[in-house]
Amino acid sequence: MSKETRYILPDLEAMERFGADIARSLKPGDVIALEGGLGAGKTTLARAIIAALGYEGEVPSPTFTIIETYDAPPLRLPVAHADFYRLEDLSEVEEIGLDDYREDAALIAEWPDHAGGFAHEPACLSILLESAQDGRIAIARGGTDWLGRMP
Ligand SMILES: Nc1ncnc2c1ncn2[C@@H]1O[C@H](COP(=O)(O)OP(=O)(O)O)[C@@H](O)[C@H]1O
Ligand SMILES: [Mg+2]
Repeated sequence: MSKETRYILPDLEAMERFGADIARSLKPGDVIALEGGLGAGKTTLARAIIAALGYEGEVPSPTFTIIETYDAPPLRLPVAHADFYRLEDLSEVEEIGLDDYREDAALIAEWPDHAGGFAHEPACLSILLESAQDGRIAIARGGTDWLGRMP
């Protein structure tokens, strides 16, 4: 795992740039694990990544659907955007068929620990979002597959 990198994201514009930086190096098989409490900015960053990959519509929060999928094209690569907050048991991860959604796609996961966590995967980039004054800071740690392509 890489040493942690900190990013200062004072406003939504900075969040959009950060999302675009992540999108630029994103590959199928990657996991972007978004950590942080309610309102930390996880969905905001997911939206920025998906938009930068070429999606022009509204990106709904997957709070209730748990998983939303985005095809390529129009995206540069397929994306599954998940919010695992509502999962109550790890067996539900299998029930929803997460592996099928992940095939050839990148996974953007909010509340990754509710799905067992992904940080053990070499292609996982974990990003912890925290409030800082009016904006946010992000603390990122990449698996070995992220060496040399951190945002
Ligand atoms: N970098 C930022 N600076 C200021 N406000 C932000 C930033 N990122 C997100 N927000 C705001 O935080 C609020 C909650 O964001 P959201 O992405 O829904 O959080 P989460 O998905 O973590 O619960 C939104 O109103 C959003 O506009
Ligand atoms: Mg959210």
